[in-house]
Amino acid sequence: MIRRYCHISHQLKVSTMAAFQLLFPLLVSCVVASASPPRHLTSCQVVQMDAFCSDLSLRSAPPNLPHGVQMLDLSRNQVHNLTQETLAYHTGFHHLNLHSNKIHFIQPGLFKNMTDLRVLDLSRNQLNVFALSKINIGPLTAVESLDLSSNGLYTGMSDYFLADSPSLANLSLSSNSITKIAQDTFSGTWSLKKISLHNNVILEIEDGAFDSLHNLTELDLSKNSITCITDFNLYNLKVLNLSKNSMELFQSVGSAQSYQLLSLDLSENKMPYFPFLPRQNVLEYLDVSRNHLRSINVSASSERRTFLNHLRYLDMSYNQLKSIPESFFCFMGSLEVLNVSNNCIGSFSITNEGLLPKVKIINLSYNSLQSLTFTENILQSLEKLFLQGNDLTTLDHQVFQRLPSIRYLQLQQNNLKICASEQKQQEAALTDQNHQHPPGCVSFSSVHSLRFLYLSENNLQTLPANAFANTSLKLLDLSLNPGLDMDKDSLSGLEHSLVHLLLRENNISRLNTDLSLLKSLKNVDLSTNQLTSLPMWDKESSIESLNLQNNNLVTVEYSTMLALERSLKTLYMGSNPLNCCSNLGFLHVVQRSAVVVPDIETVTCVHEDFSQPVNIEKLTEGMCQGSGTPMYISIILVLVAVMIMFGLLFKYCLLRKRKRIRSFRA
Ligand SMILES: *[C@@H]1O[C@H](CO)[C@@H](O)[C@H](O)[C@H]1NC(C)=O
Ligand SMILES: *[C@@H]1O[C@H](CO)[C@@H](O)[C@H](O)[C@H]1NC(C)=O
Ligand SMILES: *[C@@H]1O[C@H](CO)[C@@H](O)[C@H](O)[C@H]1NC(C)=O
Ligand SMILES: *[C@@H]1O[C@H](CO)[C@@H](O)[C@H](O)[C@H]1NC(C)=O
Ligand SMILES: *[C@@H]1O[C@H](CO)[C@@H](O)[C@H](O)[C@H]1NC(C)=O
Ligand SMILES: *[C@@H]1O[C@H](CO)[C@@H](O)[C@H](O)[C@H]1NC(C)=O
Ligand SMILES: *[C@@H]1O[C@H](CO)[C@@H](O)[C@H](O)[C@H]1NC(C)=O
Ligand SMILES: *[C@@H]1O[C@H](CO)[C@@H](O)[C@H](O)[C@H]1NC(C)=O
Ligand SMILES: *[C@@H]1O[C@H](CO)[C@@H](O)[C@H](O)[C@H]1NC(C)=O
Ligand SMILES: *[C@@H]1O[C@H](CO)[C@@H](O)[C@H](O)[C@H]1NC(C)=O
Repeated sequence: MIRRYCHISHQLKVSTMAAFQLLFPLLVSCVVASASPPRHLTSCQVVQMDAFCSDLSLRSAPPNLPHGVQMLDLSRNQVHNLTQETLAYHTGFHHLNLHSNKIHFIQPGLFKNMTDLRVLDLSRNQLNVFALSKINIGPLTAVESLDLSSNGLYTGMSDYFLADSPSLANLSLSSNSITKIAQDTFSGTWSLKKISLHNNVILEIEDGAFDSLHNLTELDLSKNSITCITDFNLYNLKVLNLSKNSMELFQSVGSAQSYQLLSLDLSENKMPYFPFLPRQNVLEYLDVSRNHLRSINVSASSERRTFLNHLRYLDMSYNQLKSIPESFFCFMGSLEVLNVSNNCIGSFSITNEGLLPKVKIINLSYNSLQSLTFTENILQSLEKLFLQGNDLTTLDHQVFQRLPSIRYLQLQQNNLKICASEQKQQEAALTDQNHQHPPGCVSFSSVHSLRFLYLSENNLQTLPANAFANTSLKLLDLSLNPGLDMDKDSLSGLEHSLVHLLLRENNISRLNTDLSLLKSLKNVDLSTNQLTSLPMWDKESSIESLNLQNNNLVTVEYSTMLALERSLKTLYMGSNPLNCCSNLGFLHVVQRSAVVVPDIETVTCVHEDFSQPVNIEKLTEGMCQGSGTPMYISIILVLVAVMIMFGLLFKYCLLRKRKRIRSFRA
């Protein structure tokens, strides 16, 4: 297929266009005189039957549009009046894009003869001015998609555009000033499938306003002022967005008829109760986040229960829930994502076998959880559990061993203690016969599926030996636990799995765990500690990124750097009291190898000849070559030279004086 590029240009451009043609035989330029004022040089680009004339300060389409043009993009121009003339008397358009002009008048009946026009974009114009004239634009015979957004339209004005649009399937009236949807608003548009009324000020929807739209599947009413829907009866609707309204009640008609609704967004409203959803539903996505939910009361009688058997995503975050009864989840066999974060939930338990069998993600972060209860082999599919920002102190110590698929555990910002391995506990239990109470700690050993564990900000004091044995942790975050005392064997068992180890801000002065045993380790964050020396690494090290920022390192062993250099790609080293001249080995690594030091600006060292720390980039080997004594010697040499010169000068003067005395005598 040969693409034909065709330029429409003003006469002044003839010569250049001719040259263009010679150079590129495939480019055919169509140069015709333009009727627009000479100061408007127009140059649309034409690709096959599509003309692109966007952003050219045009008042109308160029009169020389190719015959049979199907798509015309006149967006971002200066069109005021939309008439046959403006469109250069073409009627064969399939797609007309007129957004962001100043259209305030449309010739009535203009689109009547455009029997191929499917897509009409009139967004961002001034059609409210036209609507004031109370003239109908006439039939939109074939138009399927119409965009009237951002036109300053208010209630009733859409009637002049929609009265006769039998083919219309997709309509946007978003960002206007509509306050009411009347019963007959959509009476001329019975094929509508999708309506957007986003960002208006709708307060009222008259009874039956959408009833005639049997094919309506998507309705966006987000960002309006709707306070309640008491008789929701759009059985064929699939997607309903009521986000950002003032909804206090959502209630479906209590019929036994089945609904097609798949997605309901009620986020950012004022709902005090869980919505009353259709009994017969296939709902998959429900968002009730950022509302005023205080409690979930599940009615006891199963007659009144709503089964949410198809629900896969439920977001109730940012509410005021204090608890969620387990029975609430009874008929949610398909749920995969449950978000109840940012509530005031004090305890959460799932103990009934078979509850939430498909749930993969539970987000309970930022609540006031003090207890968490799971029975053995519950939540078979749960992979990610987010529990950060709670008050968890004492947990049943085997709580995580009960979750057979758990991979990802976020426990930062709690108050947990970590148990020693099972072995140790059993030994302890044997010696201590009164071992009745839970140990007040939580165990991670033998949580076989666990890969990512976040334990920062837990006031952890100790990390016992084998704390993570029989897991295959890839990431372990122990940051922000100042004073953490790690047993030398605390990481044993992770030799072949651990890739990321984060020990930031732990006030560690000496690492007593041998990191070189961790053969898969790639990222190590030891920043903001009190380290005075680096652990030893051998040549097997696989570390790619090492963060040593903000420690107390004075010297870095050359052998350590040599061992690291083979795999190291990134090194953070700023804010350490390094000694300049005892770190030349390190300097070599920084200067010669491919290691990237992103914070090189803040890597400085102390040199006795300088009062301020020297940036490591400015340090040269010469500055350290036998400094100290040679400086002293050179001062002596200078002094000696000066003394010799003075001596010679003195001798010379003495000689001349004697000569003069001699001549007087003569
Ligand atoms: C637009 O059309 C109206 C009504 O036909 C007319 O009064 C007005 O002068 C026209 N404006 C321009 C800029 O052509
Ligand atoms: C529509 O077509 C008819 C006959 O083909 C013609 O008389 C009329 O002027 C056209 N109207 C417009 C608005 O193009
Ligand atoms: C409906 O119209 C909107 C706005 O013009 C557009 O973004 C969207 O792609 C259209 N959707 C369909 C299915 O035509
Ligand atoms: C509704 O959609 C069906 C199937 O797409 C179609 O056959 C029917 O004509 C449509 N109804 C209306 C009123 O557009
Ligand atoms: C509902 O509308 C809001 C606001 O326009 C938007 O942010 C949100 O993504 C929409 N919800 C869905 C499920 O698409
Ligand atoms: C929940 O409780 C409120 C007030 O106690 C009540 O009005 C509402 O009907 C109850 N909802 C259900 C589903 O039982
Ligand atoms: C709720 O949590 C889920 C899963 O963690 C997440 O995808 C979603 O964005 C969260 N909702 C809000 C409102 O942040
Ligand atoms: C959990 O939900 C909160 C919203 O409440 C969200 O901000 C956060 O990102 C979610 N956590 C994850 C890890 O998805
Ligand atoms: C790891 O698992 C094995 C076998 O399942 C067990 O014998 C051993 O005690 C466990 N190690 C620790 C430290 O829990
Ligand atoms: C950090 O450790 C030093 C001693 O090494 C101690 O004096 C200081 O109090 C510790 N700081 C914190 C926040 O634990």
